[in-house]
Amino acid sequence: MKPKENLYHNSLIEEAHSILRLNDRGGYTVPTERLYPYQWNWDSAICAMGWHHFDEARAWNEIRMLLKGQWANGMLPHIIFHQDSPDYFPNADVWNVPKKCFLDKVEHPQTSGISQPPVLATCVRKLQEAGKESAINSSELKQICMKILKWHRWFWSARDPENTGLVSILHPWESGMDNSPAWDKSLVRVPPTLNSSYKRQDTSLIDSSQRPLQKEYDRYLYLVEKLREKEYDSNKISQDFPFRVIDIGLNSILQRSNLDLLALMDQFGMISECHELKKRIELARDAFAELWDPKHEHFYNRDEISGELIRVSTSACFLPLFGQLANDDQVLRMVSTLEKWAEQQFLLVPSTSPFDTNYEPQRYWRGPIWPHVNWMISEGLKEYGHNELSKKIRMQTLELISKLGFHEYYHPLGESGFGGDSFSWTAAVYLILCKTG
Ligand code: DGY
Repeated sequence: MKPKENLYHNSLIEEAHSILRLNDRGGYTVPTERLYPYQWNWDSAICAMGWHHFDEARAWNEIRMLLKGQWANGMLPHIIFHQDSPDYFPNADVWNVPKKCFLDKVEHPQTSGISQPPVLATCVRKLQEAGKESAINSSELKQICMKILKWHRWFWSARDPENTGLVSILHPWESGMDNSPAWDKSLVRVPPTLNSSYKRQDTSLIDSSQRPLQKEYDRYLYLVEKLREKEYDSNKISQDFPFRVIDIGLNSILQRSNLDLLALMDQFGMISECHELKKRIELARDAFAELWDPKHEHFYNRDEISGELIRVSTSACFLPLFGQLANDDQVLRMVSTLEKWAEQQFLLVPSTSPFDTNYEPQRYWRGPIWPHVNWMISEGLKEYGHNELSKKIRMQTLELISKLGFHEYYHPLGESGFGGDSFSWTAAVYLILCKTG
């Protein structure tokens, strides 16, 4: 790809601001118009960092609005349906979350019944570090930290009842990487829904070659139906639930967020909470060793039903860098894998290894590059002192956006952008990467 002369062009910065404003629905940001017309959990956390570059007060509102969706048990759902939209399936009626799940039964917005990668604490710490004293008072920040800790505790108890240090996901949507080939084998156990009359909306808005397949959607919907039947209650969801996976991406992000939450809570002198976080951080650190495959010198996801590592190389397998979960040797192996991909002229970081048989460069999580994942990997590399590779990923991401526009995801050969356009977290990541040294 031919580099653009000025990646930090003021007009692009202005465009990024306008996209966030365009997608503002009064205190929260939709990922893009129509395709995703609600507040999404990890999108929103990343958008808050984007807003913070030009409107600190608005950035904190994003977080307040997101936390309005929190359940009584601490879970922070992956979608908050603040208002109705005809454009998205499955909507709040399909999820049909019982009122008893909500803290405030009257005012609570409708939500989905699963969660998403918990990047929020990391984003809150970034906001606090870069912000002005006046943007949020410390008592509110403390409350926000407590809410996030409650969410993390939900992960630890509901999704890791045996306290192994690794939490499971019960739906591919919970990984945020819906149709990653890493889930293919595990999804074989999941039957398709018997509901033959539902209508997907995504493929009427986006070319179906860029979206998950129908057979995958049929299984996504089956899992929603099963979870709904059990009222999303982890005590009622039995061990024979057909999809249970240790997602290395989500677990790495959770670890990173635990570290950031610890730093925040330490400032407030919250001793018992810090102690609790430190214990969990240690537990996860030890457990991560099980996800390293010494033969292939690679971190992998794990299927909790078969107990086997899922030997599919995806961008999530590099997120232990972001979670500071790798030892020196593992870091070197990850760096060398990324360099190998780059030597073959692939821009970094394809969501699925371009050497995997399931690689599809334009289909959602089966190949395309996602800017927010690049931000996380580049952050992780920098923290391990791999500044050159970190910078390469940062510059390539900026080049993709400046050359092709603010898309949802990009072809790893830099040919085109796909999915939704005027995409909020792409705009946010552009602003973040422009300012990163
Ligand atoms: C979708 O609808 O594609 C989302 O990724 C689910 O959260």
